[in-house]
Amino acid sequence: MKTAVIYYSLDGNCAMIAEQAALQLKADVFRVLLADTKDRRGIAKMFWGGRMAVMHKKPEIQALAVNPGAYDLIVIGTPVWAASPAPPLASFLEKTPIRGKKIALFCCHAGGKGRVFDKIKAMLPGNTFTGEIDFINPSKADREETLAKLKAWIKTLSP
Ligand SMILES: Cc1cc2nc3c(=O)[nH]c(=O)nc-3n(C[C@H](O)[C@H](O)[C@H](O)COP(=O)(O)O)c2cc1C
Repeated sequence: MKTAVIYYSLDGNCAMIAEQAALQLKADVFRVLLADTKDRRGIAKMFWGGRMAVMHKKPEIQALAVNPGAYDLIVIGTPVWAASPAPPLASFLEKTPIRGKKIALFCCHAGGKGRVFDKIKAMLPGNTFTGEIDFINPSKADREETLAKLKAWIKTLSP
């Protein structure tokens, strides 16, 4: 089974999960990056990102050389921003046709994921969802526990 992990991460939490998932799944890994690479922190970051998420903005992203058609399973990950997928991931999903695939979803958040998985699924019609998992700021959590949780989930995705 050929697997891709595609994710966005601003502060490294989803990056950690994506890299570990890719290792375990022997998957190709692709990181969505914003075209605008300005460094934002603290309140400015929350305001900028929260506003984009609430207003359903689709910010410009860098081109990503991924052909979803080449994969059997696609794992998609995003931070939760204002109870929604982070807008850069939404930009990617809007630009990239993905149909007829098995898709597994993960998200990282600070304790309030809302209906983020339903929102991502609505952006990916015509696919089959095989699993979902969320992590609370994993880069600050117990690493062994996080990796064990991820590993157990990944087992449920493989045939
Ligand atoms: C703009 C913005 C909005 C956020 N909104 C939420 C939210 O609605 N619920 C939540 O639990 N965490 C929220 N967070 C926290 C992130 O989802 C959380 O820290 C996540 O682990 C970050 O992933 P990353 O390190 O891969 O970027 C928000 C963070 C940012 C920057």
